[in-house]
Amino acid sequence: MKDFVIKGQILYSASPERIVWTENGYLPVVGGICRGVFSALPAAFSGLPLEDFGDRLILPGMYDLHLHASQFAFRGLGMDMELLDWLNRYTFPEESKFRELSYAERAYEGFVTALRRSPTVRASIFATVHSPATLLLMEKLEASGLHCCVGKVNMDRNCPPSVRDPAPEEAVRETEQWILQALERFSNTKPILTPRFIPSCTDALLEGLGALRHKYDLPVQSHLSENLGEIDLVRRLSPAARFYGDAYDRFGLFGRDHRCAMAHCVHSGEEELERIRQNGVFIAHSPESNMNLASGVAPVSRYLEMGLQVGLATDLAGGSHESMFKAITHAVQASKLRWRLYDNSVSPLSFAQAFHLATAGGGAFFGKMGKFEDGYVFDALVLDDSNLFHPQPLDLLSRLERAMYLADDRNLAAKFVDGVRLF
Ligand code: GUN
Ligand code: FE
Repeated sequence: MKDFVIKGQILYSASPERIVWTENGYLPVVGGICRGVFSALPAAFSGLPLEDFGDRLILPGMYDLHLHASQFAFRGLGMDMELLDWLNRYTFPEESKFRELSYAERAYEGFVTALRRSPTVRASIFATVHSPATLLLMEKLEASGLHCCVGKVNMDRNCPPSVRDPAPEEAVRETEQWILQALERFSNTKPILTPRFIPSCTDALLEGLGALRHKYDLPVQSHLSENLGEIDLVRRLSPAARFYGDAYDRFGLFGRDHRCAMAHCVHSGEEELERIRQNGVFIAHSPESNMNLASGVAPVSRYLEMGLQVGLATDLAGGSHESMFKAITHAVQASKLRWRLYDNSVSPLSFAQAFHLATAGGGAFFGKMGKFEDGYVFDALVLDDSNLFHPQPLDLLSRLERAMYLADDRNLAAKFVDGVRLF
């Protein structure tokens, strides 16, 4: 069932600067893997079933490198504070509700339904500190056909008891039980170690998580250098660390021998950026969250110039919307304000760069994904832009850019993950 050809108006990002397109192109998929894009179908694939999507746009699926499933229920609310106050006032009270499985059932059902309909094909997701609710979320994601990494959040200080892990030894034991159950029960939904951020994790907890990471060869996700008050707090809490990222790296939770995604990096200094580069850490750029929480705006085009691994993220519910189309346009807009208002040494993001971040940039975290080149996993969206009025003919590149600003889930005619059609 994973062998077929699709035909249509095909676009993808070949590099941060270059979107390539093929009008009326053919995209053969064999065993769920792309075999390239062609103007005429090569004879080798002529025996495969063909689906013709006509004038619709065919683009890679989108990879959300950082979001909080447990915050979906309060998206668009409580945006009047900066990070630390926002966590205490809104986020922790909301996340404490996931102690109750009946609440988790309702909240996660709504989240997974929305994510399945969205442009996202794969995502790296925070749940809450509660293992049973986290497994419930993973069960729903597994059934959805999406391929996600999900983390039971670890946090054992500076938070209310309702969202706090027990003492480190017990927290690590509980986390290990969660990992074992997740590995046994799910194939497309993978556990990812998730220390919330340094202010909520003691050294003893981080040390235990470092050991688990090594034992089960797991990836890691967390937050880094998002907000100035947070960075000050980390300086006080981890005086031995050379910089914020070093506070993770000391415990083997900052890439080098494993996949690692750090959200934000708005205020990372030179030494931190150098460590990010050396260790191959992915930066999950979350432009709407950066704006909503007044964190600042990460200098993303500079990170691309430095050759860092950067992907795009919604950071629900620091970001208000699960749509990666919106994240693309927010990335461009935020970068322009940053450039105009306070630092014209870092150029604004082009549309091509932002599209690249959402597809190939974040796709690389999950594997060989995010492009339609030979050998890439086939994750794709089919987008019908016929209801987006225009009085003149547009080329494919213009149609794509416009659709990212104007389209929503209702414009998605089909979605494929790993060569399987979800709808
Ligand atoms: N840092 C620690 N926790 C969070 C969170 O839930 N959202 C954001 N944006 N930053 C965080
Ligand atoms: Fe976040």
